[in-house]
Amino acid sequence: MYSFNRLLLSNLAIVLLLVFTSSPTSAQNFMTNPSGRNTNSLNGTWKVIIDWYNRGNQLKIYQDRKAKKPTEFVEYSFNQPMQVPSDWNSQDPHLFMWEGNVWYKKEFTATRKAGKRTFIYFGAANYLTEVYLNGKKLGSHEGGFTPFQFEITDALQDGTNKLIVSVNSQRKEESIPAMNYDWWNYGGITRDVSLIETPANFIEDYFIQLKKGSQNEVEAWVKVNGLDKSKKVNLSIPAAGINKVLEIDTSGYARITFKADFKLWTPETPKQYEVTLSTDEETVKESIGFRSIEVKGLDILLNGKPVFLKGVNFHEEIAKEMRRATSDADARLILQSAKDLGCNFIRTAHYPQSENLVKMAEEMGLMIWEEIPLWQGIQFGNPIILGKAEFMLREMIRRDKNRCSIIIWSISNETTPAPDRDRVLTNMAATCRSLDPTRLVSSAFNQIKMNGNTTYVNDTLARQLDVYGINRYMGWYSPWPDKPGTMTFKSELNKPMIMSEFGGEAKYGNHGNADSAGLWNEEYQEQLYKDNIQMLKNIPFLRGITPWVLYDFRSPTRLNSENQFGWNRKGLLSDKGEKKKAWYVLKAFYESLK
Ligand code: GCU
Repeated sequence: MYSFNRLLLSNLAIVLLLVFTSSPTSAQNFMTNPSGRNTNSLNGTWKVIIDWYNRGNQLKIYQDRKAKKPTEFVEYSFNQPMQVPSDWNSQDPHLFMWEGNVWYKKEFTATRKAGKRTFIYFGAANYLTEVYLNGKKLGSHEGGFTPFQFEITDALQDGTNKLIVSVNSQRKEESIPAMNYDWWNYGGITRDVSLIETPANFIEDYFIQLKKGSQNEVEAWVKVNGLDKSKKVNLSIPAAGINKVLEIDTSGYARITFKADFKLWTPETPKQYEVTLSTDEETVKESIGFRSIEVKGLDILLNGKPVFLKGVNFHEEIAKEMRRATSDADARLILQSAKDLGCNFIRTAHYPQSENLVKMAEEMGLMIWEEIPLWQGIQFGNPIILGKAEFMLREMIRRDKNRCSIIIWSISNETTPAPDRDRVLTNMAATCRSLDPTRLVSSAFNQIKMNGNTTYVNDTLARQLDVYGINRYMGWYSPWPDKPGTMTFKSELNKPMIMSEFGGEAKYGNHGNADSAGLWNEEYQEQLYKDNIQMLKNIPFLRGITPWVLYDFRSPTRLNSENQFGWNRKGLLSDKGEKKKAWYVLKAFYESLK
């Protein structure tokens, strides 16, 4: 009886989830490359109401009513200014720790045009978002790090339009990430908001990358959204002498394969080509790089040549201002810090970071491991959570599939080995490959067996992956069982491993002897990096490293009031960007690998 009920319950949950994610009120499939289109930015000063007791829906705040006669009163009003994009925690000291609901309002003028369609596009909002236009609900979106859009063609009014958005950042067991993640829960509309105008039949999506394993053959497709299925799409890459005409089918798709003699993208020469897609009604442009990435035995091959990934992890945060990174200048600050370290690779922990950062990383010659925030304690038996995880994976790939700098999609971080987990993540790896067969699929593991000074790497899920990450804090969370240089790693997986996390904490300016971790001193962290590098040199199947972490970052889980006080101090750089001694150790190591 029990198992029957469980089966019934899980099927019911899947049905509920399908309604939730595919109902007209949930965000539609957002269009590719919003910045390459006819957009009007809604960034700037919005007005907000902090909904302390979550009464907004009961009060119908989305109607933004005004008292009409002296005897009437309305118990809410939008007066407090709030910048968009930004997190609210860093904008108002009362909201520093706020995890809850905030209502945003923005008015804009518009003119309805025959034959045109209008969309409202959000780069991201953390975590649960409801969107209303002129008092009418457009829909909702769940997830803090991926885009969503709503078509507003019919809801748009000539003249003034009132956009009202509620964002709720409360952590929940069934959210992704769930409850106790090790980074700050910045809430709000944290990325750009735009109005996008398109023709009636518009180029909604496209995928233009080299075919898996090829260095000169492109396998592309284009999707046109609209009723006119006679549309022809012109695909041109002038600098590569490409000019193709595609005819869409009844579902709006057109596919094409063609050869081209590209100068291939590499970290040293991050060559990009201007790609133009046009119909008789519109032109969409973007810069796209072309490279091949594959695994051959223990090697990762970039354009057919073995590559070693000299990386670093970072969160999407401007630590010195304790806020979410949002602008191009923010992205450049973080990415330049990685370049200064000698990196050719970054792991954008632990969620899809902003589209401007990913695009800039490609321009700067940084390969990327991008991941969804399936971070630690995930209930793999809960179909509601699994549906959300799949949705987030699809959103991440949908947004960034044309970014050749992304070489790895990662589906989870530090999940607990179990049959449910292996089944779910094996399916998600298959989904990954079906959406994008050109990239490597990975995951980061931390529950690996050690016996004496030997680490045995053979997580069951890793067999389904192209590469895998190991998070191992030798000398920090676990003491050295023996001299670092005597550590050995064994694996039957016969595939490339990336040490996706290692390191330890130090508070910048704390100095002392190198053998006392308890003082959070720079000398200990410096020795830790020297020791870990000794260990890394002993791993015959190691093909990349991403130490944890580039900058100190905010985390409510870090409670040592003397050295942490809400900061995770594993940064190679302090929150103010000051180089700790360990920074120089890693820099020298990367130099030595040239
Ligand atoms: C974990 C986790 C990180 C965390 C880090 C730490 O491995 O992946 O998100 O911040 O270790 O403990 O500092």
